[in-house]
Amino acid sequence: MNSLNIQIRPVTPPDVPAISALAREIWQATYPGIITQEQIDFMLEQRYGHERLYDDLEDADMWLDQAFHDGRRVGFAFSQLHAGEFKLDKLYIHPDVQRQGVGGQLIAHVAARAAKLGYPCVILAVNKRNDKAIASYRKYGFAVRDSIVDDIGHGFVMDDFVMEKKL
Ligand SMILES: CC(C)(COP(=O)(O)OP(=O)(O)OC[C@H]1O[C@@H](n2cnc3c(N)ncnc32)[C@H](O)[C@@H]1OP(=O)(O)O)[C@@H](O)C(=O)NCCC(=O)NCCS
Repeated sequence: MNSLNIQIRPVTPPDVPAISALAREIWQATYPGIITQEQIDFMLEQRYGHERLYDDLEDADMWLDQAFHDGRRVGFAFSQLHAGEFKLDKLYIHPDVQRQGVGGQLIAHVAARAAKLGYPCVILAVNKRNDKAIASYRKYGFAVRDSIVDDIGHGFVMDDFVMEKKL
């Protein structure tokens, strides 16, 4: 299947409200059944609150990329340096355009950046029950490296696989 034609652009401060709203829309389509609504609301506020996103944009070790198709914002990928490694920290594609190669193109974009900076691999963490995402990461060359349970406060944990794609 041909991939959807997308443009990838850096997120800028005026994009913050739209990124935050897009995250909520995609999370609500993804995580019910995987984590509780309370945890979804907590994590959205913690990670996609406007102030948090403005702070991320100021962080020299973070890259926030967004994808557009026909002028419509359809997804985003955030990457960062994390404990000396290059991490794909967030990858979210609108349900209307999932499984049309947008995620693959954003992964390639992020992997090219990591390679250019000299990192040997890209890592990520994915919920162990997020089967579709795990399948897509495998398709793009990631393999499970570790299994972690991370306490994120307020009684919530992240029960994740750490996956790694060698460059
Ligand atoms: C996971 C995600 C980022 C993949 O991006 P995408 O643009 O949909 O994926 P691509 O088209 O590049 O790759 C397709 C592969 O992803 C997997 N996949 C994506 N959507 C799927 C679905 N609905 N059912 C089954 N597999 C799916 C498959 O492995 C598929 O390969 P195939 O079509 O050859 O079987 C995207 O579907 C998404 O945002 N999902 C919801 C949010 C999420 O879980 N994000 C990851 C958090 S760690």
